[in-house]
Amino acid sequence: MTHWTAAQIPPQHGKLAYITGANSGIGYHAALELARGGAGVILACRDVAKAEAARNRILAEIPAAQVEIAQLDLASFASVRSAAQSFLSTGRHIDLLINNAGVMALPDRRVTSDGFELQLGTNHFGHFALTGLLLPSVLTAPAGRIVTVSSIAHRGATIDFDNLNWEHDYKPWPAYRRTKLANLLFGLGLHRRLSRARASAMSIVVHPGVSNTNLFAAGPGSGKGIEAVMAPLVIRLIAQSDAQGALPTLYAATSADVQSGHFYGPNGFRQMRGYPVEVRAEAQAYDESLAEKLWQVSEELTRVRYPLPG
Ligand SMILES: NC(=O)c1ccc[n+]([C@@H]2O[C@H](COP(=O)([O-])OP(=O)(O)OC[C@H]3O[C@@H](n4cnc5c(N)ncnc54)[C@H](OP(=O)(O)O)[C@@H]3O)[C@@H](O)[C@H]2O)c1
Repeated sequence: MTHWTAAQIPPQHGKLAYITGANSGIGYHAALELARGGAGVILACRDVAKAEAARNRILAEIPAAQVEIAQLDLASFASVRSAAQSFLSTGRHIDLLINNAGVMALPDRRVTSDGFELQLGTNHFGHFALTGLLLPSVLTAPAGRIVTVSSIAHRGATIDFDNLNWEHDYKPWPAYRRTKLANLLFGLGLHRRLSRARASAMSIVVHPGVSNTNLFAAGPGSGKGIEAVMAPLVIRLIAQSDAQGALPTLYAATSADVQSGHFYGPNGFRQMRGYPVEVRAEAQAYDESLAEKLWQVSEELTRVRYPLPG
């Protein structure tokens, strides 16, 4: 059986990819390989110095790469609006919008500039708002794709609308799980809305298995106690590389075999590693009434209304 690898990315010349959190890990490798394929890439990052370092790394490998930087802090609706506005003012299309950035299992409850729990605010609300604002430029692309990065951590998640932002009883991992279920509900719900609107754009959800990135040191590793020490070490032992972890994202962004409204992840043991294939999410990810409720709440809280029928 042949596996899909980045070598199979079809030519991407003339395409533009907007990738959140592209300065490290999976987002960086997605940007690198799309640039290698000939796409222009926009590294949408909260820290411009880190984005510049990432751009230099890409250019060192691919001197002809077209790499731009957009300042974007998903934990601030003002920043999301300003990034979207500055892109929209260029009048260009986005062929590939990759909702990748994320934070995981922060030991203590923190909040975004707008007062939302930081993991949900960054991973879900920030991307929900960004996608809604950028949607006109994806819809005008000839075959736009929106790829949202979820996780196997969506399994066992709960969405408690009475305590959505963990005002009480904050737990780092359940809070992360909630965001990754929200990513799935959003991506699959967006697919249904795009289909109803008869839009050609696709919405696809992926997960990278378990990949060795900064996510673990920045999240659980930033706390105190045994988990802080163990999390990054355990990950180094069991995880695949960040380049390998980027394959489902790249497959969803570029393969002709991918279908809108489907979920892709690695094919290996418990989907923790391997090569991209279609995978099945947990049942509640396909719960349309749950997705609709989250959508309504997300529109209300972000104040971003999608120009698509519900
Ligand atoms: N690694 C895994 O095993 C794994 C498994 C399942 C799912 N995922 C998902 O994969 C995605 C990428 O994570 P990764 O593993 O590649 O980790 P990573 O190397 O830590 O990358 C995360 C990226 O998100 C950015 N980011 C965090 N908060 C942000 C904000 N407020 N605004 C804008 N950007 C922000 C980070 O920027 P800074 O560098 O400035 O912090 C970084 O560029 C995440 O959605 C994660 O949930 C990863």
